Amino acid sequence: MTRSASRLPWFGPGRRPLYLAPMAKRTDVAFRQLCKEQGADVMVTEFVQSEALLRDNAKAWDMVDFTESQRPMGVQIFGATPASMARAARLVCDRMRPDFLDMNFGCPAHKVIEQNAGSGLLRCTPLLFDVVKAVKDAIPDTPLTAKMRLGWDHSTIVAVDVAGRLEELGVEAVAVHGRTREQGYSGEAHWGWISRVAEAVRIPVIGNGDVRDGASALRRFEETKVSGLMIGRAALGDPWIFSRIKAALEGREGVSDSAGPAERWDCMIRLAELTLQAHAERLGRRDVRWMLDRLLPLTHGLPGCRKVRDRLRHCLTVDDLRRAREEHLLGLTH
Ligand SMILES: Cc1cc2nc3c(=O)[nH]c(=O)nc-3n(C[C@H](O)[C@H](O)[C@H](O)COP(=O)(O)O)c2cc1C
Repeated sequence: MTRSASRLPWFGPGRRPLYLAPMAKRTDVAFRQLCKEQGADVMVTEFVQSEALLRDNAKAWDMVDFTESQRPMGVQIFGATPASMARAARLVCDRMRPDFLDMNFGCPAHKVIEQNAGSGLLRCTPLLFDVVKAVKDAIPDTPLTAKMRLGWDHSTIVAVDVAGRLEELGVEAVAVHGRTREQGYSGEAHWGWISRVAEAVRIPVIGNGDVRDGASALRRFEETKVSGLMIGRAALGDPWIFSRIKAALEGREGVSDSAGPAERWDCMIRLAELTLQAHAERLGRRDVRWMLDRLLPLTHGLPGCRKVRDRLRHCLTVDDLRRAREEHLLGLTH
């Protein structure tokens, strides 16, 4: 196995793929569309519980949905029971034909770790490896990847050892979020550890944590042996980050730092429309209030951003959003 593993062609020679990090309730099929258009190379669905897929839960299957134009796409599943992870993986690969199947060993949420799943498996690595073996055997035709944190806490960092064993078990790439479970999303990502993982294994390592701009992305590639980068929270209010990072990696100058007001509003309206298209039928509603959490990050950087947010809270429909856009942009020219 080399770093440009042939079943994951986006790691081919000279390529430095940018992944959109999976983020539950944020990076659904609608949001991913915006990131893809801005140059995200590889994307992964938000995590889905293996048992929910096996129960044929409609919401769970909705979460693993993707469009052909979003490929290469991975579907991420979580769970701590080898047999159900294996059956769910098989079902996902048969029905969705993703480009790869990804296992979550990073989620810090209480309701996930109390089932021993997500980052809970990092304090119980024999079970983690049993899960991997079962899933690997169940889907020989689909590349298997994993996303993990460094370990449970700072005194039990297991990322290097776990990545090495994953490689032996046939996992074809690993994304490493440079935080422990104990850290949650606070503090800084420890890129020293990500670097050590990338030194220790031959499969591609995707570095993740606090990549916020072209300069930091370039530095990570220069200072470590990661084969790709994964960008999470910075993309939520700034899907344009992918094109800016690409420009920096390609040495292109003069790419503007951030989107202007009209572009931001258009992006918000487009996201609302795409989100409705994707979910309205199942949810049975056309209003936009329920998706406010997804729209608000995009107001970041708008002049009078606090007022815009208040205004958004009163929008019920996409037409209301359009009216708010016109009023706001008009206000800027007077
Ligand atoms: C709201 C939210 C939801 C997340 N959901 C997932 C998930 O479903 N699967 C996963 O592997 N990681 C999930 N993560 C972690 C991110 O993928 C990523 O590892 C983390 O945010 C660090 O990257 P960043 O510093 O670029 O944001 C989530 C993070 C956030 C903030």
